[in-house]
Amino acid sequence: MDPNALPRFRRWFERYSDRFFGDDEYVNAHLRLKQEHTARTCEEIVRLASALALDDDEMRIAELTALLHDVGRFPQFAQYRTYNDLRSIDHGQKGVEVLRAEGVLDILPAEERQWVETAVGLHNRKSLPSTLKGRALLFTKLIRDADKIDIFRVVLEYYRSRRGNPQSSCTLELEIELPDTPQYNPEVLKAVRNEEAVDWGKLRTLTDARLCQLGWVYDLNFTPSLCRIEECGYLAELIGFLPQDEQIQSLCRKIQADVASRLAAIP
Ligand SMILES: [Fe+2]
Repeated sequence: MDPNALPRFRRWFERYSDRFFGDDEYVNAHLRLKQEHTARTCEEIVRLASALALDDDEMRIAELTALLHDVGRFPQFAQYRTYNDLRSIDHGQKGVEVLRAEGVLDILPAEERQWVETAVGLHNRKSLPSTLKGRALLFTKLIRDADKIDIFRVVLEYYRSRRGNPQSSCTLELEIELPDTPQYNPEVLKAVRNEEAVDWGKLRTLTDARLCQLGWVYDLNFTPSLCRIEECGYLAELIGFLPQDEQIQSLCRKIQADVASRLAAIP
């Protein structure tokens, strides 16, 4: 990828995402959230790619996937007023449609265009197809990690704001839109304990969502991503938002021990 191409892609993203702002402050606030998330995800992926010692060209493609991974969010919110894919559209797939309709990636060699489209289209899947190989797999894994790292930040800000203001309805609903009650679905707890990806349709409360986010430690592809989560204190803070019954306490102990042993294995 031409080193000068990235600033052009950034300008396209800014123009494209700005198109959806209008008179409705509720919509604007949600769109702004995704612009910020995109900028932070770009920072996270560059940090991750550096930790993994990727070369300059790989680094640029990785950053491009982060810049474009959520383009589908803008038309999604404008049309459906929700970020919940189950109640609207698959925003990863929508992102690929936008990129194609706008001819955004036409200046890239076919192979690079395919890596970026694959990463954008699959960044939000519950799990990846086993047929995915090579660079397409590498860039998809990178964006999935960088995205999760920044989503930890976003959801923790949301949980903090709810704790400070439990009665008021929140201005931002993220994609969670679930009641903040201590009950949880035992199937969600079981899936996390078994280190399996959680089926989003099984989430009934914010406690389920927090358990599912805790389980992301098993879905991070690279050890530096786990280091980053620890460095930012995200895991400990997330645990602090969970009701501490015996089952959850035992799960948290297991997760903390698993993370500690993965980090201790770093040479
Ligand atoms: Fe996304």
